[in-house]
Amino acid sequence: MDVDLEDRNEDKSDTTTIKLHKGEPDTTMIPFNLLSKASQEIFDDEHGKQLGTYWTYADDQGNKELRHHIVNFLRHTCAISTLSYENIFITNGVSAILDQLCTMFLRAGDTILVECPSYLYALQIFRNHHLHIISYATDEDGLIIDSKFVNDVLEKAKPKMIYLVPTFQNPVNRIFI
Ligand SMILES: Cc1ncc(COP(=O)(O)O)c(C=O)c1O
Repeated sequence: MDVDLEDRNEDKSDTTTIKLHKGEPDTTMIPFNLLSKASQEIFDDEHGKQLGTYWTYADDQGNKELRHHIVNFLRHTCAISTLSYENIFITNGVSAILDQLCTMFLRAGDTILVECPSYLYALQIFRNHHLHIISYATDEDGLIIDSKFVNDVLEKAKPKMIYLVPTFQNPVNRIFI
């Protein structure tokens, strides 16, 4: 049975209960001052205004400087050293790019492998594309890669795509890298 994606009976006036089902960010962790300062710098940048730097389309893969920062961030925080900025693709959200990836690379009936459990809205997107979803067991290190996995899943089911959530896995909140 599908889970109802919206809680229609939610009491919006209740500000004391922490609602874990929606994954709303803790606003005390959002760096409002830094974001405001960064925006102001862009609005005040005379050189940028003349060149139109910030007011036109970015590279197809997203702002190059930001992609370099992301590579450095991953190198220092996750010890991932094999990435280059060319491997980074910036999007306006996970849901949009998942939908786009399914449109570009998959067809109805294709198999996609996900962790069990996996992110609710991603599953909904895969269902909308009429994919065959295989939900495979995980432990504290992520997908359990054993001979059953290799024989039954990789070789027999031949998934065309694997969807993993390696950091703050939703819903179990594990970090695999
Ligand atoms: C695993 C995962 N992916 C994506 C999102 C959010 O996606 P989007 O960028 O489309 O808002 C969430 C939000 O809780 C999430 O937990």
